[in-house]
Amino acid sequence: MLKKISAMVVAALAAATLAGCGSDSGGSGGSGSGGGGDDSIVMGFSQVGAESGWRTANTKSVQDSAKKSGITLRFSDAQQKQENQIKAIRSFVQQKVDVIAFSPVVESGWDTVLKEAKDAKIPVILTDRAVDSKDTTLYKTFLGSDFIEEGKKAGQWLVDEYKDATDPVNIVELQGTTGSAPANDRKAGFAEVIGADSKFKIIASQTGDFTRAKGKEVMEAFLKSNPDIDVLYAHNDDMGLGAIEAIEGAGKVPGKDIKIITVDAVKDGMQALADGKINFIVECSPLLGPQLMDLAQKVLKGENVPARVVTEETTFDQEQAKAALPSREY
Ligand code: AHR
Repeated sequence: MLKKISAMVVAALAAATLAGCGSDSGGSGGSGSGGGGDDSIVMGFSQVGAESGWRTANTKSVQDSAKKSGITLRFSDAQQKQENQIKAIRSFVQQKVDVIAFSPVVESGWDTVLKEAKDAKIPVILTDRAVDSKDTTLYKTFLGSDFIEEGKKAGQWLVDEYKDATDPVNIVELQGTTGSAPANDRKAGFAEVIGADSKFKIIASQTGDFTRAKGKEVMEAFLKSNPDIDVLYAHNDDMGLGAIEAIEGAGKVPGKDIKIITVDAVKDGMQALADGKINFIVECSPLLGPQLMDLAQKVLKGENVPARVVTEETTFDQEQAKAALPSREY
């Protein structure tokens, strides 16, 4: 009886080992040797979280594109915490996935875990957000928006809108997640452009963590301590939409009493722009999935990929939002 049980255990272990090898096909090859063709690729993907409409659309784009490309996606939601992303990347390394893609919640603190992936010969692709690692060999490529340019576009709209004004223009800013690339860069790009004219004054600037709830809460505080706000610059639509509730709650008219500029151009933001509650939106496209899968396939075939792939984006005023809304995908 005992003999029979041990034989069954050995058989089960052998089967499990084989199954493990199967799911790793191409994994040990890491950057290039691939093995078994594209449809056997396993991608570990660590997502920031589900903090915004943009993020939901981005997750869907990645999941749909993986399915279409025959890539098996191991998806992990970090709930806006770097420690969760580090754990997920370590787990992908242990699982010997073929390729790791991730959207880093903040810019700093990635070198150790990225080195672990590199030592395991698993290529890493940055998507959406950058890291500030000096060693750029820790990842193969970075696919995503130019956030500095987005901030500049927001600033340029303001400069044009107030070109004839002589009085000071009081601006409040809702920043994205502290330490994240989009928060750092959108702030810097905006400040650079408006900084050329001293009438533009940022009178308050605080993080709203890219969420609607926090955007509302922080805007309520801004309104209490600053009676004279002319402009709100929100680093994403969701915070802008939360702020609109706060502005209306304070008896003011968003888009008129306080001009509003946001970034993203998700459907809810575009609707608010069409309704005149937001004045200008800088687009940031979340539809990165198809390019990400394409880059992963190329990297695993050993093909050269550009170090930086910048997403194409535009801007919207009210009329452009009305025209774009019926066919807006997200
Ligand atoms: O990294 C992209 C930013 O993250 C989007 O602008 C924002 O909505 C999201 O949460």
